[in-house]
Amino acid sequence: MSRTARYPPDLDRWREAAHIAARARELGLRLAVPGARIRELADEVESFIRSQGAQPAFPANLSRNDQAAHFTPSPETTDVLETGDLLKVDVGAHLDGAIADTADTVEVGGTHRWDHLVLAARDGRAAGIAAVRPGGLVDDISRAVARAIRARGVKPIVDLTGHSIERYLLHAGKSIPNVPGASGETLEEGEVIAIEPFATNGRGSIGNGPFGNIVRFRRDPGASDPALAAMFGRFRTLPFAARWVTAPEERAALERARRTLQTYPVFVERGHGHVAQAEHTVLVGASGAEVLSVV
Ligand code: CO
Repeated sequence: MSRTARYPPDLDRWREAAHIAARARELGLRLAVPGARIRELADEVESFIRSQGAQPAFPANLSRNDQAAHFTPSPETTDVLETGDLLKVDVGAHLDGAIADTADTVEVGGTHRWDHLVLAARDGRAAGIAAVRPGGLVDDISRAVARAIRARGVKPIVDLTGHSIERYLLHAGKSIPNVPGASGETLEEGEVIAIEPFATNGRGSIGNGPFGNIVRFRRDPGASDPALAAMFGRFRTLPFAARWVTAPEERAALERARRTLQTYPVFVERGHGHVAQAEHTVLVGASGAEVLSVV
Protein backbone atom coordinates (compact mmCIF):
# COMPACT_ATOMS: atom_id res chain seq x y z
CA MET A 1 0.00 0.00 0.00
CA SER A 2 1.57 3.29 -1.06
CA ARG A 3 1.85 6.15 1.40
CA THR A 4 -0.62 8.29 -0.56
CA ALA A 5 -3.15 5.50 -1.18
CA ARG A 6 -6.74 6.39 -0.43
CA TYR A 7 -8.26 3.04 0.54
CA PRO A 8 -11.52 3.34 2.50
CA PRO A 9 -10.75 2.60 6.17
CA ASP A 10 -13.68 0.12 6.20
CA LEU A 11 -12.71 -1.69 2.98
CA ASP A 12 -14.32 -4.96 4.06
CA ARG A 13 -17.69 -3.19 4.32
CA TRP A 14 -17.29 -2.03 0.70
CA ARG A 15 -16.50 -5.61 -0.31
CA GLU A 16 -19.55 -6.88 1.57
CA ALA A 17 -21.89 -4.25 0.08
CA ALA A 18 -20.63 -5.18 -3.39
CA HIS A 19 -21.16 -8.90 -2.77
CA ILE A 20 -24.76 -8.15 -1.75
CA ALA A 21 -25.30 -5.95 -4.82
CA ALA A 22 -23.90 -8.68 -7.07
CA ARG A 23 -26.30 -11.27 -5.69
CA ALA A 24 -29.19 -8.80 -6.05
CA ARG A 25 -28.17 -8.28 -9.70
CA GLU A 26 -28.21 -12.04 -10.34
CA LEU A 27 -31.59 -12.37 -8.62
CA GLY A 28 -33.02 -9.67 -10.88
CA LEU A 29 -31.66 -11.38 -13.98
CA ARG A 30 -33.20 -14.72 -12.91
CA LEU A 31 -36.61 -13.15 -12.21
CA ALA A 32 -36.73 -11.43 -15.63
CA VAL A 33 -39.00 -13.92 -17.40
CA PRO A 34 -41.86 -13.24 -19.83
CA GLY A 35 -44.95 -12.05 -17.92
CA ALA A 36 -43.02 -10.92 -14.82
CA ARG A 37 -44.33 -7.66 -13.36
CA ILE A 38 -41.59 -5.07 -13.47
CA ARG A 39 -42.82 -3.46 -10.24
CA GLU A 40 -42.58 -6.79 -8.39
CA LEU A 41 -39.13 -7.43 -9.84
CA ALA A 42 -37.89 -4.10 -8.46
CA ASP A 43 -39.47 -4.76 -5.06
CA GLU A 44 -37.94 -8.25 -4.84
CA VAL A 45 -34.44 -7.08 -5.73
CA GLU A 46 -34.59 -4.23 -3.20
CA SER A 47 -36.10 -6.52 -0.51
CA PHE A 48 -33.22 -8.93 -1.01
CA ILE A 49 -30.71 -6.12 -0.42
CA ARG A 50 -32.50 -5.15 2.81
CA SER A 51 -32.72 -8.80 3.92
CA GLN A 52 -28.90 -8.92 3.79
CA GLY A 53 -28.59 -6.00 6.20
CA ALA A 54 -27.78 -3.41 3.50
CA GLN A 55 -29.88 -0.66 1.92
CA PRO A 56 -30.46 -0.04 -1.79
CA ALA A 57 -28.02 2.73 -2.84
CA PHE A 58 -30.55 3.73 -5.50
CA PRO A 59 -33.82 2.27 -6.84
CA ALA A 60 -33.42 -0.86 -8.97
CA ASN A 61 -33.01 0.50 -12.51
CA LEU A 62 -34.97 -1.71 -14.91
CA SER A 63 -34.59 0.03 -18.26
CA ARG A 64 -35.69 -1.79 -21.41
CA ASN A 65 -34.77 -1.79 -25.12
CA ASP A 66 -33.94 1.80 -26.20
CA GLN A 67 -34.06 3.02 -22.59
CA ALA A 68 -30.41 3.07 -21.50
CA ALA A 69 -30.81 3.92 -17.81
CA HIS A 70 -32.74 5.60 -14.98
CA PHE A 71 -36.11 3.90 -15.22
CA THR A 72 -37.59 2.44 -12.07
CA PRO A 73 -41.26 1.52 -11.73
CA SER A 74 -43.60 3.99 -10.03
CA PRO A 75 -46.09 2.77 -7.40
CA GLU A 76 -48.66 2.59 -10.23
CA THR A 77 -46.57 0.77 -12.85
CA THR A 78 -48.39 -2.35 -14.12
CA ASP A 79 -46.03 -3.22 -17.04
CA VAL A 80 -44.96 -6.82 -17.53
CA LEU A 81 -41.83 -8.07 -19.29
CA GLU A 82 -42.32 -9.39 -22.79
CA THR A 83 -40.37 -12.01 -24.72
CA GLY A 84 -37.51 -10.28 -26.52
CA ASP A 85 -37.24 -7.31 -24.14
CA LEU A 86 -33.62 -6.27 -23.62
CA LEU A 87 -33.61 -5.54 -19.87
CA LYS A 88 -30.81 -3.84 -17.94
CA VAL A 89 -30.73 -4.81 -14.24
CA ASP A 90 -28.69 -2.04 -12.60
CA VAL A 91 -28.62 -2.24 -8.80
CA GLY A 92 -26.81 -0.63 -5.90
CA ALA A 93 -26.37 -1.55 -2.24
CA HIS A 94 -24.75 0.33 0.61
CA LEU A 95 -23.63 -0.38 4.16
CA ASP A 96 -23.33 2.90 6.09
CA GLY A 97 -22.57 4.72 2.83
CA ALA A 98 -20.11 2.13 1.50
CA ILE A 99 -21.65 1.83 -1.96
CA ALA A 100 -21.54 -0.72 -4.77
CA ASP A 101 -23.12 -0.31 -8.21
CA THR A 102 -23.41 -3.18 -10.68
CA ALA A 103 -25.40 -4.12 -13.77
CA ASP A 104 -25.92 -6.71 -16.45
CA THR A 105 -28.33 -7.22 -19.33
CA VAL A 106 -30.72 -10.07 -20.07
CA GLU A 107 -32.82 -10.80 -23.14
CA VAL A 108 -36.18 -11.82 -21.71
CA GLY A 109 -37.28 -15.28 -22.83
CA GLY A 110 -33.84 -16.16 -24.23
CA THR A 111 -34.60 -15.12 -27.82
CA HIS A 112 -30.89 -14.40 -28.55
CA ARG A 113 -31.59 -11.56 -30.95
CA TRP A 114 -29.38 -9.08 -29.08
CA ASP A 115 -26.53 -11.35 -27.97
CA HIS A 116 -23.98 -9.19 -29.83
CA LEU A 117 -25.01 -6.14 -27.79
CA VAL A 118 -24.91 -8.00 -24.47
CA LEU A 119 -21.51 -9.49 -25.30
CA ALA A 120 -20.19 -6.11 -26.49
CA ALA A 121 -21.09 -4.48 -23.15
CA ARG A 122 -19.53 -7.35 -21.18
CA ASP A 123 -16.39 -7.35 -23.36
CA GLY A 124 -16.13 -3.60 -22.82
CA ARG A 125 -16.41 -4.06 -19.07
CA ALA A 126 -13.76 -6.81 -19.01
CA ALA A 127 -11.37 -4.80 -21.19
CA GLY A 128 -11.87 -1.70 -19.05
CA ILE A 129 -11.19 -3.65 -15.86
CA ALA A 130 -8.01 -5.14 -17.36
CA ALA A 131 -6.76 -1.60 -18.11
CA VAL A 132 -6.97 -0.41 -14.48
CA ARG A 133 -3.58 0.54 -12.99
CA PRO A 134 -2.88 2.66 -9.90
CA GLY A 135 -1.36 5.88 -11.23
CA GLY A 136 -2.57 4.95 -14.72
CA LEU A 137 -4.77 6.99 -17.00
CA VAL A 138 -8.56 6.87 -16.94
CA ASP A 139 -8.20 7.24 -20.71
CA ASP A 140 -6.58 3.77 -20.88
CA ILE A 141 -9.83 2.30 -19.54
CA SER A 142 -11.91 4.34 -21.97
CA ARG A 143 -9.83 3.29 -24.98
CA ALA A 144 -10.03 -0.40 -24.02
CA VAL A 145 -13.82 -0.20 -23.49
CA ALA A 146 -14.49 1.48 -26.83
CA ARG A 147 -12.21 -0.87 -28.76
CA ALA A 148 -13.86 -3.98 -27.31
CA ILE A 149 -17.37 -2.73 -28.06
CA ARG A 150 -16.51 -1.67 -31.63
CA ALA A 151 -14.90 -5.08 -32.23
CA ARG A 152 -18.45 -6.51 -31.98
CA GLY A 153 -19.62 -4.17 -34.74
CA VAL A 154 -21.67 -1.88 -32.43
CA LYS A 155 -21.17 1.50 -30.73
CA PRO A 156 -20.32 2.62 -27.21
CA ILE A 157 -22.66 5.30 -25.88
CA VAL A 158 -20.45 8.38 -25.67
CA ASP A 159 -22.42 10.40 -23.11
CA LEU A 160 -22.86 7.77 -20.39
CA THR A 161 -19.86 7.14 -18.15
CA GLY A 162 -18.60 5.12 -15.26
CA HIS A 163 -17.71 7.06 -12.13
CA SER A 164 -15.73 7.17 -8.95
CA ILE A 165 -17.64 6.33 -5.76
CA GLU A 166 -17.17 7.81 -2.30
CA ARG A 167 -19.07 7.32 0.93
CA TYR A 168 -22.74 8.27 0.32
CA LEU A 169 -21.68 9.67 -3.08
CA LEU A 170 -22.66 7.42 -5.95
CA HIS A 171 -21.21 9.72 -8.59
CA ALA A 172 -18.17 11.29 -6.92
CA GLY A 173 -15.78 13.61 -8.77
CA LYS A 174 -14.32 11.41 -11.48
CA SER A 175 -15.99 10.19 -14.69
CA ILE A 176 -14.85 7.04 -16.50
CA PRO A 177 -15.84 7.68 -20.14
CA ASN A 178 -16.62 4.83 -22.51
CA VAL A 179 -14.71 6.45 -25.38
CA PRO A 180 -11.10 7.76 -25.37
CA GLY A 181 -10.05 11.40 -25.45
CA ALA A 182 -12.55 12.60 -22.87
CA SER A 183 -10.58 12.40 -19.60
CA GLY A 184 -7.16 13.69 -18.53
CA GLU A 185 -7.43 12.17 -15.05
CA THR A 186 -5.40 9.44 -13.40
CA LEU A 187 -6.41 6.61 -11.08
CA GLU A 188 -5.32 6.56 -7.47
CA GLU A 189 -4.55 3.44 -5.51
CA GLY A 190 -7.37 2.70 -3.08
CA GLU A 191 -10.06 4.44 -5.12
CA VAL A 192 -13.40 2.73 -5.77
CA ILE A 193 -14.75 3.15 -9.29
CA ALA A 194 -17.65 1.81 -11.34
CA ILE A 195 -16.87 0.78 -14.91
CA GLU A 196 -20.10 0.71 -16.90
CA PRO A 197 -20.05 0.47 -20.68
CA PHE A 198 -23.23 0.74 -22.72
CA ALA A 199 -23.36 -0.78 -26.22
CA THR A 200 -25.94 0.10 -28.87
CA ASN A 201 -26.89 -0.46 -32.50
CA GLY A 202 -28.29 3.10 -32.58
CA ARG A 203 -26.56 6.48 -32.78
CA GLY A 204 -24.34 6.04 -29.74
CA SER A 205 -25.72 8.86 -27.62
CA ILE A 206 -28.67 9.49 -25.33
CA GLY A 207 -31.36 12.09 -24.83
CA ASN A 208 -33.72 12.81 -21.96
CA GLY A 209 -36.99 10.87 -21.95
CA PRO A 210 -39.86 11.10 -19.45
CA PHE A 211 -39.46 11.18 -15.65
CA GLY A 212 -38.12 7.80 -14.53
CA ASN A 213 -39.59 7.88 -10.98
CA ILE A 214 -36.21 8.51 -9.33
CA VAL A 215 -35.50 11.57 -7.14
CA ARG A 216 -32.72 12.79 -4.85
CA PHE A 217 -32.18 15.38 -2.11
CA ARG A 218 -29.66 17.93 -3.37
CA ARG A 219 -28.90 18.95 0.21
CA ASP A 220 -30.04 18.49 3.81
CA PRO A 221 -33.56 20.02 3.99
CA GLY A 222 -33.09 20.91 7.69
CA ALA A 223 -35.33 20.09 10.63
CA SER A 224 -38.29 22.46 10.05
CA ASP A 225 -40.34 19.76 8.27
CA PRO A 226 -40.08 16.61 10.47
CA ALA A 227 -41.36 14.20 7.78
CA LEU A 228 -38.85 15.55 5.29
CA ALA A 229 -36.05 15.41 7.88
CA ALA A 230 -36.88 11.75 8.57
CA MET A 231 -36.69 10.93 4.87
CA PHE A 232 -33.36 12.72 4.54
CA GLY A 233 -32.13 10.63 7.47
CA ARG A 234 -32.93 7.49 5.48
CA PHE A 235 -31.84 8.46 1.96
CA ARG A 236 -29.28 11.24 2.56
CA THR A 237 -28.21 12.47 -0.90
CA LEU A 238 -28.64 9.05 -2.57
CA PRO A 239 -31.30 8.53 -5.26
CA PHE A 240 -34.61 7.05 -4.08
CA ALA A 241 -38.04 6.08 -5.42
CA ALA A 242 -41.55 7.16 -4.54
CA ARG A 243 -42.24 3.42 -4.09
CA TRP A 244 -40.11 3.60 -0.92
CA VAL A 245 -42.20 6.34 0.66
CA THR A 246 -45.41 4.82 2.00
CA ALA A 247 -46.35 6.80 5.15
CA PRO A 248 -49.04 9.37 4.22
CA GLU A 249 -47.27 12.24 6.02
CA GLU A 250 -44.06 11.47 4.14
CA ARG A 251 -45.93 11.24 0.82
CA ALA A 252 -47.36 14.70 1.50
CA ALA A 253 -43.95 16.10 2.50
CA LEU A 254 -42.42 14.69 -0.69
CA GLU A 255 -45.10 16.44 -2.74
CA ARG A 256 -44.38 19.77 -0.97
CA ALA A 257 -40.63 19.39 -1.48
CA ARG A 258 -40.91 18.31 -5.11
CA ARG A 259 -39.36 21.46 -6.57
CA THR A 260 -36.26 21.23 -4.36
CA LEU A 261 -35.52 17.59 -5.27
CA GLN A 262 -33.40 16.50 -8.19
CA THR A 263 -35.55 14.45 -10.61
CA TYR A 264 -34.04 12.03 -13.11
CA PRO A 265 -35.36 11.59 -16.66
CA VAL A 266 -35.06 8.21 -18.36
CA PHE A 267 -32.06 8.21 -20.73
CA VAL A 268 -33.24 7.10 -24.17
CA GLU A 269 -30.95 6.18 -27.06
CA ARG A 270 -31.15 9.01 -29.64
CA GLY A 271 -31.59 6.71 -32.62
CA HIS A 272 -33.92 4.45 -30.60
CA GLY A 273 -31.37 1.69 -30.93
CA HIS A 274 -31.35 -1.17 -28.46
CA VAL A 275 -28.97 -0.76 -25.51
CA ALA A 276 -27.05 -3.28 -23.38
CA GLN A 277 -25.08 -2.41 -20.22
CA ALA A 278 -22.57 -4.24 -18.04
CA GLU A 279 -21.14 -2.74 -14.86
CA HIS A 280 -18.82 -3.69 -12.01
CA THR A 281 -17.62 -1.76 -9.00
CA VAL A 282 -13.86 -2.24 -8.66
CA LEU A 283 -11.13 -1.23 -6.25
CA VAL A 284 -7.98 0.28 -7.74
CA GLY A 285 -5.53 -2.07 -6.03
CA ALA A 286 -1.73 -2.01 -5.87
CA SER A 287 -1.36 -4.21 -8.95
CA GLY A 288 -4.62 -3.53 -10.79
CA ALA A 289 -8.37 -3.86 -10.36
CA GLU A 290 -10.01 -5.96 -7.69
CA VAL A 291 -13.57 -6.62 -8.88
CA LEU A 292 -15.79 -6.09 -5.84
CA SER A 293 -19.25 -6.82 -7.27
CA VAL A 294 -18.82 -10.59 -7.53
CA VAL A 295 -21.28 -13.20 -6.24
CO1 CO B 1 -22.96 3.26 -12.06
